[in-house]
Amino acid sequence: MTRTYIKDLKSNITKEVTICGWVDVRRDHGKLIFIDFRDMTGKVQSVALPNNKEAHEVANKVRSEWVVRATGIVNKRPERMVAKNEENGEIEMELKQLEVLNESVTPPIDVRSDGSDINEDMRLKYRYLDLRRPRMQNNIRMRDKTLTYIRDFMHKNDFVEIETPILMKGTPEGSREYIVPSRLENGKFYVLPQSPQQFKQLSMVAGFERYFQIARCFRDEDTRGDRQPEFTQVDIEMSFVVQEDVMALNEKLITTLVQTLYPEKKIQELPFPRLSYKEAMEKYGKDKPDLRKDKNDPNLLAFCWVIDFPFFEKTDEGGWTFTHNPFSAPKPEYQKDLLEKKNIGEIVAAQYDMVLNGFEIGGGGIRNHNPEALTKVFEIMGFPPEKIESNFGHMMQALAFGAPPHGGLAFGFDRLCMLLQNEPNIREVIPFAKTGEGKDLMMGAPSEVTEKQLKELGIELKKKGKK
Ligand code: AMO
Repeated sequence: MTRTYIKDLKSNITKEVTICGWVDVRRDHGKLIFIDFRDMTGKVQSVALPNNKEAHEVANKVRSEWVVRATGIVNKRPERMVAKNEENGEIEMELKQLEVLNESVTPPIDVRSDGSDINEDMRLKYRYLDLRRPRMQNNIRMRDKTLTYIRDFMHKNDFVEIETPILMKGTPEGSREYIVPSRLENGKFYVLPQSPQQFKQLSMVAGFERYFQIARCFRDEDTRGDRQPEFTQVDIEMSFVVQEDVMALNEKLITTLVQTLYPEKKIQELPFPRLSYKEAMEKYGKDKPDLRKDKNDPNLLAFCWVIDFPFFEKTDEGGWTFTHNPFSAPKPEYQKDLLEKKNIGEIVAAQYDMVLNGFEIGGGGIRNHNPEALTKVFEIMGFPPEKIESNFGHMMQALAFGAPPHGGLAFGFDRLCMLLQNEPNIREVIPFAKTGEGKDLMMGAPSEVTEKQLKELGIELKKKGKK
């Protein structure tokens, strides 16, 4: 038996076909029972007539979200019955056979509404049901199309996708890392990557020249609407480039992506306007300004670049730390100051952020490919030589083996999808998202592990539960 997708029913008028899917709604009109079916391609209305006893009996019994296989004739609806604004509103399936493949208990949440009226914890607990709603199906399918567009674009531009490790060495600076205890070496730990930053630079040392990865990143920070503990980056790195090359490639990627997949959207200004960090702070009081001329227009995309970030900022203790990324290079005119550790507060980094409608959707920089200059960065931050060696010795060593000049950028892919889909937070475009407290309500993570597991890891809990 061949299965026909609901989207193809229109081209099967007068024919008998079999469809598979879910009961979306069932309306009992006594003798006539109407059932709307749903599969991954769409919805269609069917009718069970009383003269077909067998199908009518099953139609009487099925309920919303039951899984069925239905065979019937695709009919054109009479003119007065055509529902112009409905998907497949001009056709109807006359049921000949209806088979229940699986029943469903009554869903705890309505999966046909857009979901905005339902408590989010319930939506996350029953995410597999929540994802059935058309809005979520559309978000996840558009996310896939966006990802596919990006992969194609990168490949067409000579990039190679390289998978980098998830279990890696910790570096205590930057945001808080998730740590993973080692069983074979008790007392030692892996960490999960905050980003593949070091590996992508090492891929440049390895001679790949153009790297990208759709990379999962992990940060143990307080979550908000535009942050999740695990999120996806479109991570990019290129050799033999200057800042303008990286910015041009990424601007082209995003512009063509919007024009191809979201033709209804308007990009406010092309090329993207540029603001220095100083200008942005003075004019807008923040480094991710929302430049939209009409904030009520859902199709307006106001991109901009924010550039010329200070390399270092003062710590609370009066020392120096990096503002973005210790691996950044200073802009060429500040290289001398870095090497001489002079005018530290004035050094400008070759660092750039892409901002869209008030959100930072990407950031990157030209890297310091010279081990001597990189050492100066850590010295300015007050790292003793042993600490530089133990934390970053592998990077210093690699850079000493003929590292090409290189730079790149990483997009926050979830944020990009959120803005393109006009969603209010990134959870709406992440299939299996966590709550604001970093919990997976569906699976119940984080959860306890067994005493045996802890013992193998050489871990003893002082106190169970919260800190
Ligand atoms: P950065 O830390 O700026 O740079 O991250 C790049 C982009 O990732 C997104 N992002 C997040 N999205 C969701 N949840 C989070 N918790 C989260 N944190 C960051 C943002 C941000 O612009 N290695 C460098 C990139 C580089 O220099 O090439 C990096 O990770 O949209």
